Amino acid sequence: MDVAKCSPLLQLFLGLALLLGLSKSDPDPLQDYCIADNKSPQSFFADSTPCIDPNQAMASHFATSILSKPGNTSRNLFGSSRTLANTVNLPGLNTMGLTMARLDLAAGGIIPPHVHPRASEVTICLKGPLTVGFVDTSDRLYMQVLQPGDSFVFPKGLIHFLYNANSKTSALTLSGLNSQSPGFQLTSVATFASKPGIPDEVLEKAFQINGQDVKRIRKNLGEVDYACLCK
Ligand SMILES: *[C@@H]1O[C@H](CO)[C@@H](O)[C@H](O)[C@H]1NC(C)=O
Repeated sequence: MDVAKCSPLLQLFLGLALLLGLSKSDPDPLQDYCIADNKSPQSFFADSTPCIDPNQAMASHFATSILSKPGNTSRNLFGSSRTLANTVNLPGLNTMGLTMARLDLAAGGIIPPHVHPRASEVTICLKGPLTVGFVDTSDRLYMQVLQPGDSFVFPKGLIHFLYNANSKTSALTLSGLNSQSPGFQLTSVATFASKPGIPDEVLEKAFQINGQDVKRIRKNLGEVDYACLCK
């Protein structure tokens, strides 16, 4: 069928169907809920965590205070911290296709450019101002300064960052992501501090820098404590 010859209504319908298909995230749940069983050892690997007996479900499985506590922003070079509400501390989230994140940024702190391969993210700034931005696949930058109460969307899979340009006060933002396993990959670490490392000459050619530069960047990034950014 030649789409160009279709009626405008059919074209609109096909366009919508395509958009909806592309924006699909985690699979739909098959039950009301599937509270993550974080206790029994997992003997097989599936796309989600096994559930507890639904008769054992309690209201507390759907609640967490994890996001009420400020993260420690002194544990990495970037002056930032990520706290996640996920299926470990909020087992009721399992199979719901959701993650929440609290991002604390010290004065001058950043969450460096990174991607979530499996989720879009919408963030609401609670304490600011906070500079946020993403780059689309045509390498165009979309950047905005958020004031408290403002929200911003980071489209799925695109490189984005958050920066507290204020040198005196901290910033705080809360994000929702539409996957229970969004994935988190810092672009700088993935390229310069992978294990084993990408060969020097590849990085030299890719970034048009010399061996000394590669060494320096590897050293700088090698000393970062990512545990508190990535968990
Ligand atoms: C934050 O982390 C730093 C560095 O690891 C540590 O020295 C400090 O005690 C921590 N602060 C709190 C409140 O846990």
